[in-house]
Amino acid sequence: VSDPRRHASEGNAPYEPVAWTEQGVRILDQTVLPNEERYIVISSIDGMVEAIQALRVRGAPLIGVSAAMGLAAAAGEAADRATLDRAWLDGAMARLLASRPTAVNLRWALERMGAAVQEAFARDLDGRAVAEALRTEAQRVWDIEAGMCRYLGEFGAQLLEPGFTVLTHCNTGRLATGGLGTALAAIYVASEEQHKGIDVVVTETRPLRQGARLTAWELVRAGIPVRVIADSAAGSLMAAAEIDVVITGADRIARNGDTANKIGTYNLAVLASAHGIPFYVSAPRSTIDSTMASGDTIPIELRSAGELDAAPGAEVVNPAFDVTPAELVSAIVTDGGIVEPPFERSLSGVLEQVIPDHRGRV
Ligand code: MRU
Repeated sequence: VSDPRRHASEGNAPYEPVAWTEQGVRILDQTVLPNEERYIVISSIDGMVEAIQALRVRGAPLIGVSAAMGLAAAAGEAADRATLDRAWLDGAMARLLASRPTAVNLRWALERMGAAVQEAFARDLDGRAVAEALRTEAQRVWDIEAGMCRYLGEFGAQLLEPGFTVLTHCNTGRLATGGLGTALAAIYVASEEQHKGIDVVVTETRPLRQGARLTAWELVRAGIPVRVIADSAAGSLMAAAEIDVVITGADRIARNGDTANKIGTYNLAVLASAHGIPFYVSAPRSTIDSTMASGDTIPIELRSAGELDAAPGAEVVNPAFDVTPAELVSAIVTDGGIVEPPFERSLSGVLEQVIPDHRGRV
């Protein structure tokens, strides 16, 4: 397969959600899209933690990729100052891990970085060589996530019939992954490669409007028809038989298939079920948390009251994610194939497929 990172923007001015530079990790600041394409360069742990928490970089896979790249870049700086040691790295990884709680891809990426640290110190490498080893591993994390997206696109597109109108939520594309995307990858492959004439409806995705701002921006650039709706309009479109299928991404999937994703995903799953519309989730293996039996224990990020425009004095509750029970999920698209209920069994089969370790071996 061709380089997955080169897919979606071909034919348009290229944009890179993350990139390496001599000065550090360059990110496209997603808080100012679509009004402005602003790139910022980050070379410190403080800077990357801030960027992740402020959602300058966001989306489950891209959070992990950015954290890994930020760790490598900051380790390079620390090596130049001769302050890179095990304690510094452990502290840096702990801070990055705590930056956002729900997307398990962050833990997945940092566990790989931790294994690379372990090996570098076991080999008694000097500071610069440790930083170099971390950069190699961060690139591998990126390559693996992007590679898995490609498969999500291939498999997910099988679920989309020619002429389908697909409802999706939040942003699950290049901006969320550093690859083709998760749910959106299916739409890219079905539209751009298979020319199936897919129409996309995307929910605005309150409160931070990742659907209206980011998914619409990506799809317009790719020349794929997209209509933005208010979150609360989803039910009426389904009732009017205007939606053939719903497909979303995930931030963490438990062993039984319970799925945490952007707040409002659960609402869509309930509505889809009530209208007899298939509800699919698309996620790479880095999003499946084999340590969690069900969604009950998935940590849900609570974000600040300021993100909702409420009257001063009113109490605000602002969960960033919700959990969709497995019973409402028709199938999960993974990079190992499309899995169906009962997920306990089908997901464990996918998890048995081995992702290359930090030395690139399976
Ligand atoms: O808060 P965000 O913007 O990081 O939330 C993103 C989502 O919920 C996506 O749907 C999810 O990460 C899966 S797709 C990459």
